[in-house]
Amino acid sequence: MFTRLVRSGYQVVFNTVFRRMDAERAHHIAAGVLRGIGRCEPVRRVLGRCTRPANSLRVEALGMEFPSPFGLAAGFDKNADLVDGLTALGFGHVEVGTITPKAQPGNPKPRLFRLVNDRALINRMGFNNDGAETALENLRARRNGQAIVGINIGKNKVTAAEDAVDDYVSAAKTLRGQADYLVINVSSPNTPGLRGLQELDALEPILRATLEAADGVPLLVKIAPDLADDQVQRIAELVRRIGLAGIVATNTTIQREPLATSSRVVEAFGAGGLSGAPVRERSLEVLKLLRAELGDAPCIISVGGVTDAYDVHERLAAGATLVQGYTAFLYEGPQWAAAINRGLERLRRRGR
Ligand code: FNR
Repeated sequence: MFTRLVRSGYQVVFNTVFRRMDAERAHHIAAGVLRGIGRCEPVRRVLGRCTRPANSLRVEALGMEFPSPFGLAAGFDKNADLVDGLTALGFGHVEVGTITPKAQPGNPKPRLFRLVNDRALINRMGFNNDGAETALENLRARRNGQAIVGINIGKNKVTAAEDAVDDYVSAAKTLRGQADYLVINVSSPNTPGLRGLQELDALEPILRATLEAADGVPLLVKIAPDLADDQVQRIAELVRRIGLAGIVATNTTIQREPLATSSRVVEAFGAGGLSGAPVRERSLEVLKLLRAELGDAPCIISVGGVTDAYDVHERLAAGATLVQGYTAFLYEGPQWAAAINRGLERLRRRGR
C-alpha cells in the first residue's frame, strides 16, 4: 500500500516536473532530498521502519551479511554523500563512485539524456567527482554505521593509460578504510582509453597492484557488456587466478540498437553509455558466462536492465551473488528498492 502510494505520487512528479527538466538537474534535486533525509535522524528512522528488508532476504557475501541482495549501482552517488539517505530507502548496499584520486569536472553539459520509451538513459558524465579525499571525508561523516558501502574507483582523465595503475592504487589506499568492498572500474565508455584497460596485458598489473593496495578489503572488477564472450571468459579466468573477490557485470553499453526511441533523436544525444532495459539481455548473458567460468565461490554482482523483483530473482537464479540497478530508479521512484525487497520476499514465500 505504502509503496504503491509513493509510486503513484512519484509518477505524477516525474511526468509533470522531472521529465520536462534537464535530467542532470532533476538528479541534483533528488540528491538534495536524499542528503536531507540522510541528515535527519527521525525521518531516517521512520523510513527505515517502512523499508527494512525482511530477515529472509539476508545474504552472506564478501565475508559480510547484506540485509538484501539488491543494492544501488555506481554512478548515482558519485561523492559518497548520499549513503545514509539511500540506505533508508531500502537498498541493501550502495556502491559509491566512480571516485578518482583527484577531483575532476567530467564532460561538458548536457551529458545525461532520458530515453523514456526505452526505459533507458544515455550518459557521458565522464567521472565528474570531487576526488578521493573529499569522498573519504563524506564517508567518515556517515551517520548510519550499518550501511554497506562498496567504493568504485577509476583513473583521472589526465592520467595516461600506461600510468592508470598508479591512480587505482592511490584511490584504493585512500579509501580502503571506509570500504566494505572496492571495485576497479575499467569499463566506462566516457573516459578515453579506459575500456582498453580490459585487455589482459593492461588489466593484470592493475588487478595485482590494486589487490595489494586493498590490503584485505574484498576487491572486484567491473566489466563492459560489449566485450566478446571469449574476452569475458578470459577476464573471469584471470580473476580466479589472481584471487580477486569477484566481478561486477555489467557497465553501460556503447551499442544503440534496437531502441524504440527514433535513431534521429538517439544520434542527436551523441556519444555515451546506454543503460536500462536495453542492456538487460546482454547483462544476463554475461552473468551466465561468468558463473560458468568462475565456479561457485567468487562473488558476481549482476547489474544492467534490472527493473523489478522478477528481474532480481532471475539474476539470483542465474548465479548472481548480489544484484544492482540504477536507471530504473529514475523511472520508478523512491519506493523502488523497498518494492523490490517486498516482491522478492513474496516470490520466496511462494517458493519460486
Ligand atoms: C552509470 N554507471 C556507472 N558505473 C560505474 O562503474 N561508474 C560510474 O561512475 C557510473 N556512472 C553512471 C552514471 C549514470 C548516469 C548511469 C545511468 C550509469 C553504470 C551503472 O553503474 C550500471 O552499471 C549501468 O547503468 C547498468 O545498470 P542499469 O542502469 O541498467 O540498472
